[in-house]
Amino acid sequence: MHLKDYLNSAIVKVLKQLGYDASNTLVSISNRPDLSDYQSNVAMPLAKIVKKSPIEIANKIKDFLIKDPAFSKVTVDGPGFINVTFSDNKLLEINISPKKFGKKVVLDYGGPNIAKEMHVGHLRSAIIGESLKRILKLSGNEVIGDVHFGDWGTPIGMLITQLKQENPQSFEDNFENFDMTISEISALYKRANANFKSNDEFKESARVATFELQNGNILYKKLWKILRDKSVEAVKKNYDKLGVSFDLWLGESDTNDLLPKIVDDLLKRNIAVHSNGAIIVPMDCHDSKQEKAPLILRKSDGAYTYAITDLATIVQRMENYNPDAILYVVDARQKEHFQQVFTVARLAGYTKETTSLEHIAFGTVNGKDGKPFKTREGNVMNLKDLIEFSENKAKEELSVINEETKDQAHKIAIGALKFQDLKNLRTSNYIFDTENFTKSEGKTGAYVQYAIARINSILEKSLNKDSNENLATANPNELKISHKIERDILLQLNRFSESLEQAYVAREPSIISEYIYILSQKFSNLYAELPINGENDNAIRISRLQLCRIIKKVLTQGLDMLGIEAPEKMLR
Ligand code: ARG
Repeated sequence: MHLKDYLNSAIVKVLKQLGYDASNTLVSISNRPDLSDYQSNVAMPLAKIVKKSPIEIANKIKDFLIKDPAFSKVTVDGPGFINVTFSDNKLLEINISPKKFGKKVVLDYGGPNIAKEMHVGHLRSAIIGESLKRILKLSGNEVIGDVHFGDWGTPIGMLITQLKQENPQSFEDNFENFDMTISEISALYKRANANFKSNDEFKESARVATFELQNGNILYKKLWKILRDKSVEAVKKNYDKLGVSFDLWLGESDTNDLLPKIVDDLLKRNIAVHSNGAIIVPMDCHDSKQEKAPLILRKSDGAYTYAITDLATIVQRMENYNPDAILYVVDARQKEHFQQVFTVARLAGYTKETTSLEHIAFGTVNGKDGKPFKTREGNVMNLKDLIEFSENKAKEELSVINEETKDQAHKIAIGALKFQDLKNLRTSNYIFDTENFTKSEGKTGAYVQYAIARINSILEKSLNKDSNENLATANPNELKISHKIERDILLQLNRFSESLEQAYVAREPSIISEYIYILSQKFSNLYAELPINGENDNAIRISRLQLCRIIKKVLTQGLDMLGIEAPEKMLR
């Protein structure tokens, strides 16, 4: 049990003995860390309910708590704040094991689109999604990650039409010699998009092609399959480099057979209605008085929408996995889309009552100008270029480039990209810093990686020094607190599972990045202020080395929660 839970349940127990009922005792990390570790503000609201003075209640709680050797100091301050300091012995127990929640969760992240270059928005989804997957797993949940490929709908009709215009021959001979690379395909898409926007005739052809594809045109399906396979291959390469992986490579297209059935079902139950040739679910009457845009399931031209594919995907996921939650890591701009889809899914009873549907929204990555981040040429920065750019930046910090430092530069680059993203609240927009993000000073991935590398070198040195004493046989529990800095570190270590729980509950990786950043700072403090290998008192030296090992373990685990690896060594 972590410290916060320990204190909470201690207070619950006291309150019960005093005849009061409370399960949440308003325990939080102290806002006066110089005076206490944690505080509880439970006395104030409780006093109102039972009509007593908060100080009196707080003092009663204090009298009980102080008998528990887990606490070394309990004070009542101000109007009735209870300030608690844990005893050194309690901190020395070091509990870093995560709480287990035991849910089954489908995680929808990445969401790249066929033939389109991935942009920084997709990067954010991949980075946040990968991190949440790890946070969820470490918190004892079963996670099924699905990339939910954008591989159906109008963009494919556009590609088909463009290809038909440019290469009628390919259609003649059934695409036997199709050999476009992924960059050629994305260039084809760009031309198609330009035509689609400017040319009504093209638009109409693309619409027809989309309709025919969705309704079983065999030739189109064959071309679609080729395009999809090529796109998946290219996308996988990028994700591999980024250290992002998925259990399922399903997409919008996998729902196609279900779409007419769902439309029928919703029509039959009067949830959906015909409207000017389209089929829609009116949104005004269900959850609020305000009139809202309807959810369009099928357009008047017969084409199925993004919304219906998402509804169908919910049906499939429930059928295949029966999850407790489905999480969508998608740009905040799709907020309304998900609100509507979730409302209809609930209305139609497509999920269990208890299944939570959550849009894990995130903000935009901007450039210095405050507009969505672009390359110098003004194009949307694609993932491949972005990774290359960061690797080059990381290499700038190195004096030698060899195999070892190349691997180091890669890990720093990926760590820099991810940490820069995950240090922000996911819902906020952030400005992509192209200058300092790979540096090992400041709030960066490299700062944390550097702390681990430094510990590695401290531990290596200790082996040389201790070759006679053989540290390996030293008792791993020989930890001591001989200085305030050590206590400070132990307190932070004990907060690992508490932070993990918070990150899990809020679906918020920035809680983990903040946690490991602070732990790294506390380690730097130790390193700067106190001797480790140079300590003369043998017991203290062994204890400090032991502390370093645990810090390394927790930092490594914390970085792993962000999808970041730490290089063994950091050469400069
Ligand atoms: N492909 C979509 C896009 O690029 C994102 C997909 C998100 N997931 C979902 N189930 N709708 O905007």
